Amino acid sequence: MKYYIITYGCQMNEADSSLMASLLDRAGWQEVESAAGADLIVLNTCSVRERPEHKVYSTLGELRAWKQSNPDALLAVAGCMAQRAGEEIRRRAPHVDIVLGTRWFHHIHDLVARVRAGDGPLVVSEMEEDPSAARTGNDLAADRAPLRAFVPVIRGCSNFCSYCIVPLVRGPESSRPAEDIICEVKALVGRGTREVTLLGQNVLAYGRDLPGGATFPDLLRALDPIPDLWRIRFTTCHPRDVTDELVSAMAELPSVCEHIHLPIQAGEDKLLHDMNRGYTIAQYRTTVDRLRAGVPGLALTTDIMVGFPGETEEQFEESLRLYRCIGFDAAFTFAYSPRPGTAAGEREDEVPQDTRLARLRKLIDLQNGITLSRNKAGVGEEAEVLVDGPAHRGEGLLAGRARNNKQVIVAGDQRLAGSLVRVKLAEPHLWGFRGHLDE
Ligand code: 5AD
Ligand code: SF4
Repeated sequence: MKYYIITYGCQMNEADSSLMASLLDRAGWQEVESAAGADLIVLNTCSVRERPEHKVYSTLGELRAWKQSNPDALLAVAGCMAQRAGEEIRRRAPHVDIVLGTRWFHHIHDLVARVRAGDGPLVVSEMEEDPSAARTGNDLAADRAPLRAFVPVIRGCSNFCSYCIVPLVRGPESSRPAEDIICEVKALVGRGTREVTLLGQNVLAYGRDLPGGATFPDLLRALDPIPDLWRIRFTTCHPRDVTDELVSAMAELPSVCEHIHLPIQAGEDKLLHDMNRGYTIAQYRTTVDRLRAGVPGLALTTDIMVGFPGETEEQFEESLRLYRCIGFDAAFTFAYSPRPGTAAGEREDEVPQDTRLARLRKLIDLQNGITLSRNKAGVGEEAEVLVDGPAHRGEGLLAGRARNNKQVIVAGDQRLAGSLVRVKLAEPHLWGFRGHLDE
């Protein structure tokens, strides 16, 4: 029996998809890379903006023909949209057999078995804490041990930014016990993983909900000494939760990489206030100054949203001036999308869609210039690059990442895949650098 998983959204969804895959593998299923020939298709969905939700409905529409020609095959919808829309998905797409919410992905194999035994269709989207959820993955993750692995450390979010659906679909913060995470990372490293990215909707909140008062920097200190673990990354971070302990852990621990993703969202105080972000521009800038002073060579990336309800042309322009001053190495940029159930979604002073898109265009142009000029400044430097493998394009080229997470492409022997190499950075690009191997 063969399955195919399509993943939308963030790295947490990638991690959840990988766990679902391991569970199905253990239940005797085999993964395939396309819908044709699959006996089970799982869509792991995202609700953060409207567009990925539309995409899911259109994919479900396309899969109607697949389902008609394979009447015994099963179609499952998992993830944030499954949590949010539940029964509505079955109403709009009655050929869906299983809808499983964000706290139920680790039951995929059981639910599939039940529906195959005639107990379907099933919609499982209760939000109650399932005690086994937090501990899923401890021994599973190492079934697949990629060179660079994602390791969820805290799920959910308790922040309630006014535009954001995540707390509604993923529930409140829930940290995994540190010993489970350490065990999982050791198992991954034992099977060949050399880099881990610790994941959470806000990793810096790690431990607040656990007895014993462990913090995220404590977790970094516990993972750093693991032999053969070369690199530790983490994402994503709420600016309000950056502490001196984090800065010193990043500065002192050899395996923690010099990169932080610190979503700013907006560059003007009234907007930040209306977004319920919990910091001012001045506080954000102080945080960046502390990080840059404490962690030499730090790359700073961010998320920025334009067209939040009520955003004026002046507020937008003021934000652009600030982004120019801060100089992010890269930014994920988004046009605001109203989400059901959120505070901002109720507001009536929406910015017209064409204005949102025009501002997005302008922001992207500005950020591309900044990204390129920051990369130009890196030319001539030496970087330690972890080689992922062959580059997507180009004969004899290898792709990898520098410690600051920038992509580097070099000509070299394919046998270097999986190793650390020294590279002299040559050509700057928007996506990173072309470089030369240092002999
Ligand atoms: N509309 C547009 N972008 C959003 N994000 C979160 N919610 C929304 C929304 N309603 C963006 C934020 C967040 C990133 C993951 O997605 O920038 O950091
Ligand atoms: Fe999308 Fe947010 Fe859910 Fe990730 S947590 S899949 S970004 S809605």
